[in-house]
Formats: sequence, structure tokens, C-alpha cells
Amino acid sequence: MRATPERIQLKTREQIGLMREAGLVVARALGEMRAAVAPGVTTADLDEIARGVLRDAGAKPSFLGYHGYPAVICSSRNDKVVHGIPTAAEILADGDIISIDFGAIVDGWHGDAAITALVGDVAPDVVALSQACEASMWDGLAAARVNGRLTDISHAVETSVRKSGKYGIVTGYGGHGIGSEMHMAPHILNHGRPGKGPRLLPGMALAIEPMITLGRRNTEELDDGWTVSTVDGSWAAHWEHTVALLDDGPWVLTAEDGGRAELAQRGITVSAAA
Ligand code: MF3
Ligand code: CO
Repeated sequence: MRATPERIQLKTREQIGLMREAGLVVARALGEMRAAVAPGVTTADLDEIARGVLRDAGAKPSFLGYHGYPAVICSSRNDKVVHGIPTAAEILADGDIISIDFGAIVDGWHGDAAITALVGDVAPDVVALSQACEASMWDGLAAARVNGRLTDISHAVETSVRKSGKYGIVTGYGGHGIGSEMHMAPHILNHGRPGKGPRLLPGMALAIEPMITLGRRNTEELDDGWTVSTVDGSWAAHWEHTVALLDDGPWVLTAEDGGRAELAQRGITVSAAA
């Protein structure tokens, strides 16, 4: 017997249009934060930049107040993997890396994305870590195809990471459906066999977010109740985009170009809507 399939929200074209607006707010904010990243900048400064973009756009934050979360971004530096809380005491230093995760709501519809930014001069193996993570996200996005199955994405992410090098793939966290809420069904593992799970259909929107480390995959939550750190102290990277599936192709809603350039490199043409 098959387990009851979880319901995955199907969006109309119009709703996906609103998610695109949210996605563009996220893209703009991440672009401004990335440009501001430098030694001496605090993670609270980055949060302030995101708040300014939300204000200018008339959009709402997805994270602030989510299960009591106290900021509009998550900022996770070096051995922190995800869900770090920005503070005025956390000062970026030359050689650091920082995952900046941000979500915005427009007319009730969410966009969610993350980048790993480099602070000044970063060691080559750490740059390679971030590049491997970003590439695995794009390989996962390229595998999100109408009539394919959910774990095609998981498999593509894992295969991509393994081909890039000997990295830890964080297993306790993963991607998710997104739409009228930030976190919706289905949960998307960053590893596994292809061809399993629900069939992917037009109108679905998914956030794909690999997290990988230079060491082991094990993580622990810190006493603040949020920050996720590697157990072995190895540094971690995290990248994320929100993609909508349309009948004529994907649309990466949180990428300025809709994902056109990166997906073309992987043989995928984005939707005409993009
Ligand atoms: N954006 C994160 C994710 O990608 C979730 C942030 S948790 C919050 O799923 F509490 F900070 F909102
Ligand atoms: Co997410």
C-alpha cells in the first residue's frame, strides 16, 4: 500500500506572478547584502539592509516572528550552517564566509533564497566549498521537471556534490514546498535515490537548498534555539532558490534572470513566463 500522498499546493499563473514579485524583492535584498559584505560589517548591518529593501518594496518579511524568530535574515558564518541570528556584536572578518538567507512576502505569497558570500580573501578550499554547493543547487533546480519525481531533485543535488569533492552533505535539513506559507509540503532531501516521491506538476513551487561542509555532515543546534552549527567545527556553505514549475518549463523566481543562464548550461530552457 502506498502512504497517503501529501498535498502539494498548486498555484495559478497569477499566484506565481505574485511569488515572482516576492522573489525579486529577495533577489534585490540578497544582491545589496552581498555588495555590503566586507570586513568590519556586522550581521545586524545586513539585517538592516534587508529591512530597508522590504520597506522600499512594501513587502513583508517571511522570517521575522516565524516560531518567534527575531530577525528578517538568517546569517550563518563559517562553521554555522543555517538559522544563525544576526547581531551587532558579530563582525565579519577577512577570510570568513557567511550564508545569508532571506524570505519576503508579497500579497501573501512567499519567496525564499540564500547565498554564501565571501568576506575579503577566502581560502581556496573554502571558495570551492561554496562553488560546489551553488552548483549542486543549480543541478537540483535543473532536475525539478514536470512529470519527474521529487527525489530526482534530491539525487541530482547529491550526485553533484559528490562529483565536486569530498564534502559532508547535511541531512537534518533540506528544501521545501513554498507558496502561501514559507514552509509547505513536500520536504526535499538533499540526497537519495531518484524516481521516488510525488510526481512534479505544473503550479508547484519548491525551495531547493543544499547545505554542505568541509568535514562531517553532523550538525547541532546551539543554546539560542536557532543556530545550526557543524559538530566538528568544519565550515559550511548554503545556497537556495525558489523555483516554480510551469507547463513550459521552470522559472527560478528568486533569480533576477529567472534562472535562464545557469539552467541553459544544463540543457534546460526556462518558461516563456520568465
Ligand atoms: N529560510 C529558511 C529556509 O530556507 C528558514 C528560515 S527559518 C526562520 O527554510 F525562522 F528564520 F524563519
Ligand atoms: Co528555505
